[in-house]
Amino acid sequence: MTIHFKRLSDQELKGRRVFIRADLNVPQDEAGRITDDTRIRASVPGIRFARDAGAAVMVTSHLGRPAEGEVRPQDSLAPIAARLGELLGCAVALKTGWVDGVEVAPGEVVLLENCRCNKGEKKNDDALARKMAKLADIYVNDAFGTAHRAEATTHGMAKYAPVACAGPLMAAELDALGAALGAPKRPLVAIVAGSKVSTKLSILQALAEKVDHMIVGGGIANTFMLANGLPVGKSLCEPDMLDDARAVMAKMRAKGGSVPIPVDVVVGREFSPTAAAVTKAAAAVAADDMIFDIGPQSAAALAGLIAGAGTIVWNGPVGVFEFDQFGGGTRAVAQAIAASPGFSIAGGGDTIAAINKYGVAGAIDYISTAGGAFLEFLEGKTLPAVEILVSRAAA
Ligand code: 3PG
Repeated sequence: MTIHFKRLSDQELKGRRVFIRADLNVPQDEAGRITDDTRIRASVPGIRFARDAGAAVMVTSHLGRPAEGEVRPQDSLAPIAARLGELLGCAVALKTGWVDGVEVAPGEVVLLENCRCNKGEKKNDDALARKMAKLADIYVNDAFGTAHRAEATTHGMAKYAPVACAGPLMAAELDALGAALGAPKRPLVAIVAGSKVSTKLSILQALAEKVDHMIVGGGIANTFMLANGLPVGKSLCEPDMLDDARAVMAKMRAKGGSVPIPVDVVVGREFSPTAAAVTKAAAAVAADDMIFDIGPQSAAALAGLIAGAGTIVWNGPVGVFEFDQFGGGTRAVAQAIAASPGFSIAGGGDTIAAINKYGVAGAIDYISTAGGAFLEFLEGKTLPAVEILVSRAAA
C-alpha cells in the first residue's frame, strides 16, 4: 500500500514561508521539565531541512489538552522552545498571539505557542484554518502522532494552504506503516497487549482480518484465557467480553491462524514493586492470584512464532514490566523481535518504554512516535490529517 502525498523534500524552499505542524507533545514532570524529548528530536530533521534550505520557518504543536482562549503556564511551549533551540543549535523564539501574523526571517526558526490554546483549533474551525493558512507559502504536516485528529492545524490548514505536504517524520511513518500492513511479508504476527479487550476490541477485530498470528498480552490475555476456560483468579479481566474474545479466536482459527494462549504465568498477590512473583501453570492459577506476566514456556513459544515471522507489529507490553519480577515475558518478546529477521514495527508509549528498558531500539526496524494515531492506522481507519494531504496531492 503506497500512500501518495507531497513531500517537504520535493519543495522549493529558499525564501519561502514554511509552517510546520509538529507533534511536540512531550511528557513533563510537575516542574515542567521534559522527561522524554523523543518527539522533539524526531521533529528536528524536518525543521533543520527547511531552515538550511533558506526558508522562514514557523513551527507549532499542541501540548496537552488545554482549554481554548488562554495559555496557562503549564500549557506553554516555552520549555520545548528551549530544547528545540539546543538541538538545532540556534535561538528559537516563542511567539504568542501569532494567528494574525508572524515575523520570521529566512534561515530563522520560531516556535508558535500551543496551537490548541487558539479558539476554534479543536473543532477545526474553518475561519481559523483559513486565517492560519495565510501565514505560509508551504504548509507541512510532520505530526503523525496527531494525524488521527481533525483540528485546524492538522486538517483545516492543509485544505487552504497554497501547498500542503508531509514532513520527513510523517513521510517515514506512512512509508513504514504502509509497507508493513499493505503488502506485508508473511507470516504477519501482531502483538496487541494492554489492560482491556474493550478499549482494543476494534483493533483486535481489524487485525484478525489481516494477521496470521495474533499474540495477546496483559489484561487482554487474561480475558482470552478465561474465554478458554482457564482460571484467572483476581486478575484484571473483562468477563463481559468473552464472546468478543471467542469471536476473534474463531476468526483466526477459520483462516488457519492462531491466538496463542499462555500455558504458564507469573502471578502475585498484590500490585506492588515488591510483590513476590510465583511462576505456575496457567491451569493452576488460584482464586487470590493476579496474573502479572506470562511464564517462560509461554514466552519461549511466542519467541518461536516471532522468530519465524516475516513482519511483526508490536503494541503493548505482555506483562507488568515496570516491576522487574514481572518483566520476563516482555523482555523475551522484545528480544525475540530484535533477533527476528522479520520486518518489525512498534509503537505506543508503554511499548517504547519497554523497548528502551530492554535496550533493543536499534534492532527494531521502525519505532513509531505515535500512540493513538499508530493504533488507528493499524485498525485501518482513515487518519484525517493524512487523508487531506493525499487529497491535496491528487487535486
Ligand atoms: C499523543 O500524545 O498521542 C498525540 O500528541 C495526540 O495527543 P491527543 O490525544 O491529546 O490528541
